[in-house]
This record gives sequence, C-alpha cells and structure tokens, in this order.
Amino acid sequence: MAEFIPVPPFDLVVFGATGDLSLRKLFPSLLHRFLDGQIPQQSRIIGVARSEMDTDAFRKMVHEAHLKFDPKANIDEAKCDEFLKRVEYARVDATAPAAEWGALNAALANGNGNVRIFYLSTAPSLFVTIAQRLAEAGLATPTSRIVLEKPIGRDLASSRAINDGVGAVFDEHRTFRIDHYLGKETVQNLLVLRFANMLVEPLWSRATIDHVQITVAEELGVESRVEYYDKSGALRDMVQNHILQLLCLVALESPNSMDADAIRTEKLKVLSALRRIDAKDVAAKTVRGQYKAGLIGGARAPAYVEEVGKPTRTETFVAIKAEVDNWRWAGVPFYLRTGKRMGARRSEIVVQFKDTPVQIFGAGAGAPNRLVLRLQPDEGVRLWLNMKEPGPGGLRIKTAPLDLSFAEEFNVRYPDAYERLLMDIVRGNLSLFMRRDEVDAAWKWADALLAAWETSGHEPFLYPAGSNGPTQSALLMDRDGRAWWDPE
Ligand code: BG6
Repeated sequence: MAEFIPVPPFDLVVFGATGDLSLRKLFPSLLHRFLDGQIPQQSRIIGVARSEMDTDAFRKMVHEAHLKFDPKANIDEAKCDEFLKRVEYARVDATAPAAEWGALNAALANGNGNVRIFYLSTAPSLFVTIAQRLAEAGLATPTSRIVLEKPIGRDLASSRAINDGVGAVFDEHRTFRIDHYLGKETVQNLLVLRFANMLVEPLWSRATIDHVQITVAEELGVESRVEYYDKSGALRDMVQNHILQLLCLVALESPNSMDADAIRTEKLKVLSALRRIDAKDVAAKTVRGQYKAGLIGGARAPAYVEEVGKPTRTETFVAIKAEVDNWRWAGVPFYLRTGKRMGARRSEIVVQFKDTPVQIFGAGAGAPNRLVLRLQPDEGVRLWLNMKEPGPGGLRIKTAPLDLSFAEEFNVRYPDAYERLLMDIVRGNLSLFMRRDEVDAAWKWADALLAAWETSGHEPFLYPAGSNGPTQSALLMDRDGRAWWDPE
C-alpha cells in the first residue's frame, strides 16, 4: 500500500474556479488527496471567479462536478462534506483594481502561517494582471507561490511577456509552470526505468535504438473550447508542451540527482539540441491534419469546421519527424503524433530497437524489440521480445510482451496527474514543473515550425473523425521504411 505523507497546511486560491479545468480536475484531485489524509485540517481552498454566488452555491457546484467527472470514485457523502467544509468562494473580478479585492483579502485573513498558493487556471492573458493585483493588494507575500497553467502565451514573445510580468512579483523558485503530463504515473516511471535499472541505460542510444514514436491520440474533439483551440491548434496545444516534455524525458542524459534544477537543466539541453524544421523541410518532416465528419463508436462525429462554424486552417492533428542533434541520438528520429477525434484514446511512447545484425532464424523471423510505455488508458510498460513458440516440430519465433501492467501488478488506484502536482506545489518541489528557459526553448522550436508552415502555405490534410489521422502521416513513416505502432 502506498503511504501518504501529509503536506504542510496551506491556503490554495484557485482563480478561474468555475472553469472546466478547475471543476473537472483540480477540485476532484484535492478531494482525493483529502480523503487519503494528505491535506491537513487547517488547510483552506478558496475558489475565485467573477460569477455572483456564495460559498454554499460554489460547494454545490464542486460537489456536482465531482459526481459528474469522477463517478467511479464512489465517495461517501459524509466524507465529501468534510472536504467541502474546507472550500470557500470569493467573488473577484481579476481585472478590477486591487482595492476591489476585498473578498479575497477577507478569505485569506488569519492564514496562521499556512503555505499560500495562487493557482491561475484562467486565460494566459490574465496572468500578468492577476500577479500585479496580488502584489498591489498585499496578498503576494514573500513566500507565496504562483501556479501557471499552460498555455504560457502563444509564441516566444507573448510567453516572455508573461514570464517577465509574473516574474516581477514572483521569482522563479516560487513559480510553478504546470505541464500535467509530467504528473502522469508512466511518465515518472520512465525516469525510474531508465535510471534505477542497470539493464536499460546501456541500451539507450543510437547504438541499439532505431527510432522513438510518441503518440497522444484523443477521441474527444474540441467541444466547448473552440474559441481557444481555433487560435491555437495541435502544435501549440499539445506538441510545444506535453509532447516535447515526453521527448525530453526519453532523451535526457542522467541528471546528477532528482533535484529540480538537475532534471530541468538536462531537459533544457535536449530542447536546445532539437533541430529546427524550416520551410524547405516541412513537407517531408511534418503533416498537419484536420478532422472531417466521421464515425466514432458508431455515432456521427461532426467535422471541425462545423464546430467552428466557419472555414479554418487550424490543425487538429500533427505528425512530425523530430531530430535531436547530439551524440546519443544522432540518426535516431523521434516521430511525434497527436490528434483530436481519432479512433481511440491512446497515449504511448514506443522505443523501437534495431534489428539483430544477423538473422540466423531466417529473414523476417520475429520482430524488432520494442519497449512500449503506455500513458493512458491502462498505464503500464511492455517489453516486446522474440521467444520460441512452445511445442515440437521446427523452430518458430513468436513475439510476446513482458508485461508490467500497473493495475494488476501493484493493485492500486491511479492518481490523477493533478493530485501529485498539487501536493508537490505545497511541498515546494519544482522537479515536475517547467523552468522558464525550458518554455523559451520549446517556443523557439515551435515558432520556427509555425513560421515554416506559414511561408510554405502548408495546408492541413483532412482525415475522417475516428481514423488514425491523414494517410500522409503513415507516408511520413513509410518514406523512412518504418510504420506507426498501431495495435489492432
Ligand atoms: C490539455 C490540452 O493540455 O491536454 C487538451 O489543452 C487535451 O486539448 C488535454 O485534451 C489532454 O490531456 P489528457 O490528460 O486527457 O491526455
């Protein structure tokens, strides 16, 4: 059984408390941590939004959201009530002068030394204003922390402006930039697998690895997020952050320790070694896609343009052949792929090893070894090996997985990524949060690609909802004599 070590008492202020992320993820995550006894009784959680409502109405909203988004949790009502007693609501217009922030001031009175955290689950355009108001209202104390949800801007310039503005109030070691993929179980397990086993690391380079694939496929479309998403697209929404962070953890050199800066410095080196993709390469190395109408689970799923309500060139799918120019990875492509409204929700990292130098069992016997790290659903790690098929007569090779499926092996409930990240913020552990220079480096690479798409007039290819993306994505691999790992 995992042991839960309580965190210090805290006051957590959630801006954008009535928004989708807060209700779907943040409050349910806090509830789970509370039920496991990790949140001390004196802690307070203060939801902040512009809507006119009182604490009772807000508690009801949190409760209903928990029932809707976390129905399997099956939590005892009395325990849920215990948690809700710690939740309050303060009506504040984040753009109003600090003098009008009385409700939050009152809610934070008598903090008694609680760790103070401001979680900005709002549009990034409000980040700087909120940080400034917190300073003006005297609420940003020298030890308080700020949490910034992605996206941090929409390009390098806007991201720098946000980091400068927020940084004028909160210094770097009090700034927690969330990338929730870093809180996922398998993602952390990647570091353990690589650096706590003697077996793995000697094989982890161009000497034995042929290529790496990172896929984040979603069944969901953009739904109510059209306004944000259409200005963003898959590259900004998923690749610049989540997928590049996954790539970093596959590719980084061993940090000296688990110290936050040791890890983040190694990630930064990977991002700096990512080869820029310019206009002459976009057609060969990238594919943009957009979903048209199709069938998912037997039901018609609308086209992206129908959801947006007007013609648009925004990509809902992207596939990229990325290259890391350093000694370890030279010549080992990282194929990245993400899309909305695909056939099934599936996120995984596939590390494909080279063929054996000689095939003594005959050409085509067996398949290259693969290490498959499944992030969701069914978190787990599988190592595909070639074995002799049992039985007499001949010698037939069978490819079978060594399976380390977490649910069966460890018999645990998977915590949501936000559960761990929220507790890390209270503890002040920055290891799983992005440092400013990492965000800059990721934007530099993404900006170059966005500019290359723009100058080359690269149009998205249409793919039917419910498919694996445009056929051009398969061709991207096929040109290199490789194929996506898409199990039936
Ligand atoms: C978010 C993106 O950061 O991650 C969403 O903005 C995406 O578009 C989501 O759906 C995916 O997260 P998860 O944890 O469901 O894979």
